Amino acid sequence: MELADVADDLTEVLLTETQIHDKIAELARRVEQDYAGERPLLVGVLKGAVMVMADVARELKMHVDMDFMAVSSYGASTESSGVVRILKDLDADLEGRHVIIVEDIIDSGLTLAWLRANLESRGPASLEILALLRKPDAAKVDVDVKYFGFDIPNAFVVGYGLDYAERYRNLRGVAVLAPHVYS
Ligand code: PRP
Repeated sequence: MELADVADDLTEVLLTETQIHDKIAELARRVEQDYAGERPLLVGVLKGAVMVMADVARELKMHVDMDFMAVSSYGASTESSGVVRILKDLDADLEGRHVIIVEDIIDSGLTLAWLRANLESRGPASLEILALLRKPDAAKVDVDVKYFGFDIPNAFVVGYGLDYAERYRNLRGVAVLAPHVYS
């Protein structure tokens, strides 16, 4: 779906499909260099990371493995504890693997901080993070993200994997949702 198809629901376009594509190509070139001769395992975090995962994987001119995890952070009241529940675990054994976690967005950073510690304990040869978006104003914990795309404002953002009530994930770009949609 194009941003224009739901223009009335959006107040501001933050990233077009082209901007996202160019950034993903740039990140992919770095991954190719850094993992030359290796076969990294891309770990996508459902559901938001599906678009980034699909585009990064296809952009890479090298063999990769792909696996997915589904996690759920608890509601707003307990969010600050950083407690995350695994809804679907990985199929792959991480022992000795070069792992790259692929995420759509870092908001508080709690999901990734938890995930990094969890995956680190499984004995990978290396563990890095690729995240397309980051909301710097919202960060509660610092997460070391090696491959990072764009800083975006701390607004209600949808598209390219990001949803509101499960809608707008299939937008090709990223935009700010109009208040009339959720209020
Ligand atoms: C989003 C996003 C990250 C997480 C980031 O997922 O995909 O996983 O929130 O937030 P944090 O930095 O504050 O932890 P969400 O829980 O909305 O699930 P979804 O990907 O299925 O939409």
